[in-house]
Amino acid sequence: MANQLPSNILVVGATGTIGKYITEAILSAGPHVGRQVSIFTSPATASSPDKEALLSSWKSRGLSVITGDLSSADDVRNAYNGIDTVVSCLGRNALASQIELLKLAEESNVQWFFPSEYGTDIEYDASSKNEKPHQNKLRVREFIRENLKKVKCTYVVTGPYIEMYLVLAPVAKEAGGYDAKSKKAVVIGSGDGKVGFTSMPDVGKLVVAALRHPEVSTGKVLKVQSFVTTPNAILAEFEKQTGSKWTVDHTPNQKLREMENERWNANDPIATLYTLKRIWAEGGTLYDKTDNEILGLTSGDMEPLSTVVERAISGKGY
Ligand SMILES: NC(=O)c1ccc[n+]([C@@H]2O[C@H](COP(=O)([O-])OP(=O)(O)OC[C@H]3O[C@@H](n4cnc5c(N)ncnc54)[C@H](OP(=O)(O)O)[C@@H]3O)[C@@H](O)[C@H]2O)c1
Repeated sequence: MANQLPSNILVVGATGTIGKYITEAILSAGPHVGRQVSIFTSPATASSPDKEALLSSWKSRGLSVITGDLSSADDVRNAYNGIDTVVSCLGRNALASQIELLKLAEESNVQWFFPSEYGTDIEYDASSKNEKPHQNKLRVREFIRENLKKVKCTYVVTGPYIEMYLVLAPVAKEAGGYDAKSKKAVVIGSGDGKVGFTSMPDVGKLVVAALRHPEVSTGKVLKVQSFVTTPNAILAEFEKQTGSKWTVDHTPNQKLREMENERWNANDPIATLYTLKRIWAEGGTLYDKTDNEILGLTSGDMEPLSTVVERAISGKGY
């Protein structure tokens, strides 16, 4: 089906943090993208009271829910029945399981597969291959390059989600963030370094655009984003919208590196956040040109910083 529009789409990891946005965008796309949209999820998620409202709303709009065990080949084969396009939104802990999903896709009718990426460019430059958080995604790409013949893949590389970047996490304050309640910010380095961001609704919009444009997106690593800005410009937007000056602390780049090493040495999972913040602060999200345009999206189609800051101030989570 290479270069053909998707017809039967299966989303895996649909109710997760970014899966929710991607599934919602696919379901609400006008004109429709795909004839039928299904999700493959665990029985626990399908019957979870926390997910009931979300799943009911999706089902009322025609979504099918297929339940099963991601690690059962029979369940995955069953879920792939009649499917031509798979969009994986699996979380970090489940990234390696995509290798089995891809093997089974190659033996099925699946023609197009979006591996779970939606983040930092794991092949940005020569140093990327050594970054610890990238290892599982790199293995998935290597498997695809070396083994897949029929199934074509598309990687949607969005850089950091601006909504998450804004959060000043109590467990990792030095890694930066903004707290609208206390009007405090922590900024890495001088705060003047540019970073490319994507908002979570825009991740969904960009995946839909990729699905609509197989002629440019199959077999590609798409580098996309909502906007480029600096930590100081984000601070200025918060100060403007709250009408007051904020208290600002700075974490020097060298200090961030030291904390990153300490956290990895202590086997603390928060180490991943420190590494990613360091990569972003050092320019690992910047491009001469993104792929937004070839997907038919202009800057006016993407959410601006002011909208995301407004949501953060009003306490709307993600
Ligand atoms: N750019 C950024 O700033 C950023 C930030 C966070 C994540 N990401 C990337 O986005 C992608 C999705 O991450 P996420 O945070 O959205 O995922 P998540 O919420 O942790 O999990 C997504 C879904 O994966 C499924 N899943 C099944 N088995 C799992 C397992 N053993 N461990 C974890 N998940 C399992 C679940 O599907 P069901 O819904 O069917 O139960 C879950 O809802 C990843 O590639 C991640 O690296 C990027």
